[in-house]
Parts: sequence; C-alpha cells; structure tokens
Amino acid sequence: LFGAVDMAPRDPILGITEAYNADKNPNKVNLGVGVYYDDNGKVPLLECVRKAEAQLLEKAAPRTYLPIDGLAAYDKAVQELVFGADSAVVQEKRAITVQAIGGTGALKIGADFLKRFAPDSQVWISDPSWENHRALFESAGFVVNSYPYYDPATRGVNFAGMLGALQSMPAGSIVLLHACCHNPTGADLTDEQWKQVIEVVTGRGLIPFLDMAYQGFGDGIDADGRVVRQFAQAGGPLFVSNSFSKSFSLYGERVGALSIVAASTEEAARVLSQLKRVVRTNYSNPPLHGGQVVATALATPELRALWEEELAAMRVRIREMRQALVAKLKAKVPNQNFDFVITQRGMFSYSGLTKAQVERLRNEYSVYAVDTGRICVAALNSKNIDYVVDAIAKVL
Ligand code: LMR
Repeated sequence: LFGAVDMAPRDPILGITEAYNADKNPNKVNLGVGVYYDDNGKVPLLECVRKAEAQLLEKAAPRTYLPIDGLAAYDKAVQELVFGADSAVVQEKRAITVQAIGGTGALKIGADFLKRFAPDSQVWISDPSWENHRALFESAGFVVNSYPYYDPATRGVNFAGMLGALQSMPAGSIVLLHACCHNPTGADLTDEQWKQVIEVVTGRGLIPFLDMAYQGFGDGIDADGRVVRQFAQAGGPLFVSNSFSKSFSLYGERVGALSIVAASTEEAARVLSQLKRVVRTNYSNPPLHGGQVVATALATPELRALWEEELAAMRVRIREMRQALVAKLKAKVPNQNFDFVITQRGMFSYSGLTKAQVERLRNEYSVYAVDTGRICVAALNSKNIDYVVDAIAKVL
C-alpha cells in the first residue's frame, strides 16, 4: 500500500513554520505564517480571553458534546457581529451560523455543502489568493479558476480585469472574495468598487463566498465588516466564513464560523439541516473551549470593550511596523520606493521580493517569508526589524 505513496510537498505557508522551527540560528525571524506577535515576539494571550477563561473556570461546567452546529450563544454572537443585531437577515431569521473549526473549517464545510447542492458550479478565486483556497475547493471536488486581482505595476487591484471576469462568469459560479485585508496582497477594493462588485455578483446570479479572517485588522471591526452587510442587504444567497484566530489571538483553539444567508426563514432552516449533515459526517460537532471564550467575551459588555481595545492596539502596532519598515528600507535602499507597504492593509505585505530573493533571505539570514514574497508585518518588532531590513537590503 504505502510503496506507492509519493512524498507530498511542504505546505506553502505552514511548511515554512516547520522549516523555521528546525532552524538553530538565534536571529531567525518567521515572516511566513499570518500570526500576530507582540513587540517581544510573543503571541499575546489577550486580557479579554484571560478574563473570559477565568469566568469559565469558575463555573467548572461539564464538558459535554456541543450541538452539531455549535454553541448557540456563540453562533448568535457571531451572527450579530458579522451582520449586525438589527440587520434584516438576522431579524427575519434568514441567516444561519454554524460554529466551525477555524476559518479553514468554515470554508471546507461551505465547500462540501456547495458541492452537494451546486455540483456543476465552478469556483473562482482571486489571482493571487490565500494559498489554501484553491487546494481546499479542489479537494471538495470543484474546478477552481482565478479572476484577475493584483496588478504588480500599480501594486493595487486590477479592478477593470476583475470586474470584466465577474461579468463573464456563468450564472451560479461561486466567487470567493476577501471581505477585508486581502491575503496575500493587502490590496483591498474601495467602497465604490465593492458597490460595483456587489451589483455584478447579485445581478448575474453568482454565488458570493466572503472569507473574513482578518476583521478588525484593516480599519476596525465595523468598517472591515461593512461589505458583508452590504452583500446581505443586496439579497441573493451569501456565504461568509469568519475566524477568531487572529482577532482574538486564539490560533490553536480553531474558532471560526460559517454563516449563510437564505431567502426565507423556512429556506434557512432547510439549509441548516443539510449543513449539520456535512458537519456530522466530517467531525461530528465542534470543540467547546474556544467557542465558549469568544461567546463570553462578545456577550459581556466589559470584555467586549476590552477586546475592541486590544484588537485596536494590534492594528496600530502593525501600522507602526509598516511605517518603520518603509523608513528603514528607504535609508538602506534609497533608489527604491517602498511606500506601497504603508497603504497595504491587514497583516501582510506583498513585498515584491522574488522567489530567489526569498530563498536567499531564508538560507543566508534565517528570515522566513512565503515564496510569493508575502511577508507578515505583524511578526516584525522593535528588536528584529533592523536585522530583517539589513537582510532584505542585502538580497535586493
Ligand atoms: C496565513 O495565511 O498565513 C494564515 O491564514 C495561516 C494559514 O492557515 O495559512
């Protein structure tokens, strides 16, 4: 049996962490994976999480199974966060939310559901997109295409190309869109451009699947979630995967959710019943702890306010690192312009480093980035930034 098993390539993102972990260089820096580190290079345990966990510990509740669709209080809190408590889709009970195993798990149960009910549709992802999007939808059985997105000449979005592609997709196509903080490029659409995208997507009967893994890392929780609410208002089916890995710094707890908007309460109930079958046949029901932590934090006014403060502090520190990176690169490499790093949003910078330069960074300096040149600005800090800038200047 195993004689015919080929060695699979390393994962393009998590494989970098494996290589980084094995590296003995004390100056090593991991700019690969999308993880926020504080100025001491540590993944923070947020105070709102610590307090929510203290409350849960106090209760010492038994660890029973969660329902297939997750903790009810969590699903409700997520739905209100994603769509707004007073939104029509929540009020009219047309939205359903299912707790999922991180944002990836949410994408996968959405993909499996879609394969069952839209088996002939094809999936369209941005060029480029998060490395796992293509593999994930392909493993659910879909043909995955890409639509133009990033324009290396302007370091922004090739909007005409994107809109043209949307206008020519067959009705029923599944379009994966990044709600905010586009991964990997950090190039987001403007409000006006989103308006046009929503018009085309709903007008042509495409199926939008919004991936929102970085809510709060762009402009703020509400601003980053605006496009989801606009899609919900526009009518038509809608899929939204969201994750608290980054925004609650709960990476290992795998806390995410999939929300789907249907045309009526009755339709939503049928959708939920089928989604539960997908979950049951994959992993039965989601884990308890992370969902409880997030539900407690979101539903307790004091903890919710604390979360917003802590998330804002992460957002601000990343912005400071962007500024510092640009200023320091300017000093070292005066003939090149890096201002684009400041306008990119979220955790990443699509740096323009080539694969060969990324390899040199890794092999000669133990600075780890994704082969595409994506670097995680949220892993820079006041202690490692000079080392990283020196290394980048040398490979440039
Ligand atoms: C990333 O893009 O680095 C993160 O979303 C982590 C992952 O699972 O790839």
